[in-house]
Amino acid sequence: MGLLDGKVAIVTGAGRGIGRGEALLLASHGASVVVNDVGGEWDGTGTDDRPAAQVVDEIAAAGGTAIANGDDVADWGGAHRLVDAAVEAFGDLNILVNNAGILRDGMSFNLDEEAWDSVIRVHLKGHFAPTHHAARFWRERSKAGHDAPRRIINTASESGLFGNAGQANYSAAKAGIASLTIVLARELAKYGVTVNCIAPRARTRMTAGTFEGFGEAAEGAFDEWSPDNVAPTIGFLASDAASDITGQVFVVWADRVHLMNGWSLDNTVERGGQRWTIDELIDAKDELFADHDPGAPPMGFGQ
Ligand SMILES: NC(=O)c1ccc[n+]([C@@H]2O[C@H](COP(=O)([O-])OP(=O)(O)OC[C@H]3O[C@@H](n4cnc5c(N)ncnc54)[C@H](O)[C@@H]3O)[C@@H](O)[C@H]2O)c1
Repeated sequence: MGLLDGKVAIVTGAGRGIGRGEALLLASHGASVVVNDVGGEWDGTGTDDRPAAQVVDEIAAAGGTAIANGDDVADWGGAHRLVDAAVEAFGDLNILVNNAGILRDGMSFNLDEEAWDSVIRVHLKGHFAPTHHAARFWRERSKAGHDAPRRIINTASESGLFGNAGQANYSAAKAGIASLTIVLARELAKYGVTVNCIAPRARTRMTAGTFEGFGEAAEGAFDEWSPDNVAPTIGFLASDAASDITGQVFVVWADRVHLMNGWSLDNTVERGGQRWTIDELIDAKDELFADHDPGAPPMGFGQ
């Protein structure tokens, strides 16, 4: 008996990297998987149907069930075809893992319009478009009396949670995805859909060129940066055991799952039933920032 027997999953951007590991793991636990990937370059250029087909072959060789889909997740019609493909092939949809992504880094004064638009498009619209079509499908199913566990698992980044210099487009898109997760969790609860979000860390082609020290593990040592370390958290959130978990964000890597807490109230100054003046706010500045550094917050968190 697999933990995900009878479940139908879509994993976007599953031809490589983190998504590949997620598709393989979901399939190994019994889910029927749609392996979506345009097969483009890391910067979003080009297409290639081989990466998705190869993952489908790997799943089949391991005794699992999968089909490939080469639609662009940020294309409204393509995202619709992707959801339809799952339903046509496997009769339902239970799990949508939004993972596809690209990078076009640059400081704000260097980023051009194309770099901004393409990253916002693939990540933010590429999360929303499949979600929209899945949500419509689930709402109709639910209204027709079909209740089933339904899951959306989004992929943000610590770059979006903390704001990374040099990634204005990517950080803004990923912060949007974290916020979108909470909106969707509220909107879709009544249709049995939980919506959560991970911010992974892994050695993939996306990070290979960005970070030093993302090398292979020493012989016999635990490979902390393997992209396959991320998938078990996806499997957990997709499982029936996670039916009460929704609207949450987790940083996931190596042997760690960090449960994050978003914007939270730190301090308040009150004028007492009257509008503040600028001079009064200047005077209240030290009280407002008591125990709070007024500079840009640190990137990341202590581990
Ligand atoms: N690797 C990390 O450390 C890291 C850190 C934070 C967030 N992430 C996020 O994890 C996700 C996976 O990244 P990865 O590191 O595995 O990168 P990757 O480049 O190995 O894989 C991304 C895949 O998405 C596909 N893709 C891109 N645009 C697409 C589109 N429009 N439609 C369908 N498929 C598309 C690519 O072809 C590629 O196979 C991304 O959302 C990324 O932003 C990764």
